[in-house]
Amino acid sequence: MEYFVLVNKDNTLDKTFVPDDLVDAKSRYKEGILVNKKLLDNFRLMAKDAYNLGYDIDIMSGYRDYFYQEKLYNKLLKEKGFAYTFRKIAKAGCSEHQTGLAVDLCVYRDGKCYIEEEIDEMEEGKWLRENAYRYGFILRYPRGLEDVTGYDYEPWHYRYVGQIANDIYFNNLTLEEYLEKTCK
Ligand code: DAL
Ligand code: ZN
Repeated sequence: MEYFVLVNKDNTLDKTFVPDDLVDAKSRYKEGILVNKKLLDNFRLMAKDAYNLGYDIDIMSGYRDYFYQEKLYNKLLKEKGFAYTFRKIAKAGCSEHQTGLAVDLCVYRDGKCYIEEEIDEMEEGKWLRENAYRYGFILRYPRGLEDVTGYDYEPWHYRYVGQIANDIYFNNLTLEEYLEKTCK
């Protein structure tokens, strides 16, 4: 699978699709989180540099198979209804978590673990937004581009795309826009 693969509401994966290069992220957040191997190598470089600056980041979600994504989607749908769920979580087969190339990051600080919206205003969240591209990651669902990505801003969700992260970051693009620009 190419690192720039596009998975969204219009570009889906089969329920049987399982990536073949998954490894254990050895996250402190939860046991058994799997991610793409190349992603993990680059996450470790990023986490090490962050740690040297006093920022402690880890992975709280990585690869999710079709059926687990379906469970998450149905749970939120039941709790919050369709309009909310549509903007927050992908239907099974539409999540890039199924590629193993997406991670939800969390921040450890003063013995507490911060997740999701909590990291937006933190220095760590800002550092990630400004530096993740150096390690091949992009902030996948940026604020203000909800109409393009199909999802609300997610300060915690980073996608490994490899070398094209540079172009995407410096041109303020989404993955959708980058691929549209380069492939047409
Ligand atoms: N929250 C993102 C869109 C997902 O469920 O893949
Ligand atoms: Zn995510």
